[in-house]
Amino acid sequence: MAEKQRFVIKDLKKKFNNNIVLDGIDLTINEGDVLGVIGPSGTGKSTLLRCINQLEVPESGSIEIGESQIDLSNAKKSNLKNVTQLRQRTGMVFQRFNLFQKKTALENVMEGLITVQKKSKDEARKIALKELDRVGMTQWANHYPKHLSGGQQQRVAIARVLAMKPDLILMDEPTSALDPELVGEVLETIKQLAEEGHTMILVSHEMAFIRKVATRCIFLDHGKIVEDGTPKEVFTAPTQERTRDFLKKMSLLEEPDYVI
Ligand SMILES: Nc1ncnc2c1ncn2[C@@H]1O[C@H](COP(=O)(O)OP(=O)(O)O)[C@@H](O)[C@H]1O
Ligand SMILES: [Mg+2]
Repeated sequence: MAEKQRFVIKDLKKKFNNNIVLDGIDLTINEGDVLGVIGPSGTGKSTLLRCINQLEVPESGSIEIGESQIDLSNAKKSNLKNVTQLRQRTGMVFQRFNLFQKKTALENVMEGLITVQKKSKDEARKIALKELDRVGMTQWANHYPKHLSGGQQQRVAIARVLAMKPDLILMDEPTSALDPELVGEVLETIKQLAEEGHTMILVSHEMAFIRKVATRCIFLDHGKIVEDGTPKEVFTAPTQERTRDFLKKMSLLEEPDYVI
């Protein structure tokens, strides 16, 4: 049996001008972990995901994926293969879906399979249809994004990531751009992925959801991980005052208006 894969992030530092956003993050993610990332707005949650996916280049930091060790601060300049490899092994779901507007749902999911993974059109279509089915979007395969609701678009975006078979799925507030009544269907899809054992980093303001699906939770503040534990530990017994403040503000006790 294949050995369990780990992702080991070391000393990740990123600043914008003089604004230190990530201040030496060390983080190990085990295969099958669903890591919930919470923290105040502007605390570097998106930047963390973007550095892992090389959408941002940090000042320092490395990531180890199985056998490969990639210097995140230098991957682009020193070795293009590393960036490509990293992008192939991680898949990002964005807040605003980022679908190609001029392509149908099916074409959106096929795109990376053809251009990046060099699959034939037939094979790409087969895989894409399977993934669209998995997120319940089969009947919308030939529709353009503008004819889909936000929740449907996000499910297509998730299918697009799944089709690439990434080892690590990065989700950046995947429900925050959605109307409240559409949040549930996307959370349901994410829950299903978690249950299937996908390794994920999930940045979200949906505290009740994180509590339900995450296997582990970190609280980021001022560029550092200040809590790291099971969701139960972080939510019910935080070690830091600022975590307690944050959770209070997020009105943890409020019942969400979706049902999962
Ligand atoms: N491209 C950028 N240029 C300058 N500052 C940025 C850029 N991206 C993010 N920042 C700043 O970095 C900080 C962290 O941003 P972000 O990672 O988006 O936080 P979060 O996702 O936790 O809300 C914020 O102060 C933000 O203004
Ligand atoms: Mg963000």
